[in-house]
Amino acid sequence: MASLTHFCLIISIIPSLLASSANAQLSTTFYATSCPNLQTIVRNAMRQASARDSRLPAPILRLFFHDCFVQGCDASLLLDDTSSFTGEKTAIPNQSTRGYEAIDAIKTQVEAACSATVSCADILALATRDGVVLQGGPTWIVPLGRRDSRTANLNAANSQIPSPFAGLSTLISQFAAKGLSARDMTALSGAHTLGFSRCLAFRTRIYNETNIDPAFARTRRANCPASGGDNNLAPLDGTPAGFDLNYYQSLVNRRGLLHSDQELFNGGSQDALVRTYSTNRATFFSDFAAAMVKMGNISPLTGTNGEIRRNCRVLN
Ligand code: HEM
Repeated sequence: MASLTHFCLIISIIPSLLASSANAQLSTTFYATSCPNLQTIVRNAMRQASARDSRLPAPILRLFFHDCFVQGCDASLLLDDTSSFTGEKTAIPNQSTRGYEAIDAIKTQVEAACSATVSCADILALATRDGVVLQGGPTWIVPLGRRDSRTANLNAANSQIPSPFAGLSTLISQFAAKGLSARDMTALSGAHTLGFSRCLAFRTRIYNETNIDPAFARTRRANCPASGGDNNLAPLDGTPAGFDLNYYQSLVNRRGLLHSDQELFNGGSQDALVRTYSTNRATFFSDFAAAMVKMGNISPLTGTNGEIRRNCRVLN
């Protein structure tokens, strides 16, 4: 009986050991001795790059999301296609991503200070946080120690990054599949307080949908014709350079640009939270920061898994 108990105990411990080794923890002090100036280098580089391109923080934030949602935050998105390697950049949700040169430039500076030490995945996580701060958003401490993938997954990029045409239940389940709650999803969608969308992603909303402020639809149609002009840009909220409450205020006023945005405030489970975020900056900021840390924890490669890429675009 005693040995049976012993046996059961071992059997019940094994899965948790396996889980913890496959999912080793990130650490906020990971580069404290190996690259002590890392955070300063990334912050200054983001500041310089944003001075040249004031819209940069938005596309960088989007890169982090699109990277983390495909096999975890492992910089798989940053890999270029080659004749023998298929990356994720040609996936439909990634066709309008940008900011790769800025990450390259930061990586070059980090390599000069700490060669072959800091992953591209961690650089992206830090640059994302610094960009949010530059636009007036919250700050948070970024857990570090991610390593870079040696693989990418084009099919997952096409199927696991949510579509702007998705409904609320699909959005909730796609985030749940990454360990993120509906509340995380609604807070993270607040990233759309920054940046722009192409006409092709919101055309059907402004021409066909009824849960939209008519004056807003008219204004947006002026620069997004019923056919053509697919790449014409419109701001995702009324203040695309400011990390503020305007995104949620727009949703409450039926001025969400994307169908998926308005789904968060359309008589469903997230309405009350959208209302809260639309008036309560402290709640939005702290929920957003916490959800960014959570998203940054999606299945990182740690320990001896993956590699520290020398060039974010190519495998070592
Ligand atoms: C909830 C599901 C989401 C959907 C369906 C979605 C979809 C989109 C679409 C269609 C665009 C415009 C892209 C284009 O012009 O082609 C966009 C832009 C953007 N997305 Fe999302 N997104 C979602 C969540 C997120 C999250 C979680 C983040 C980050 C935490 C994020 C960050 C951004 C940013 C910053 C932009 C503006 C990029 C720029 O100005 O270049 N999105 N998103």
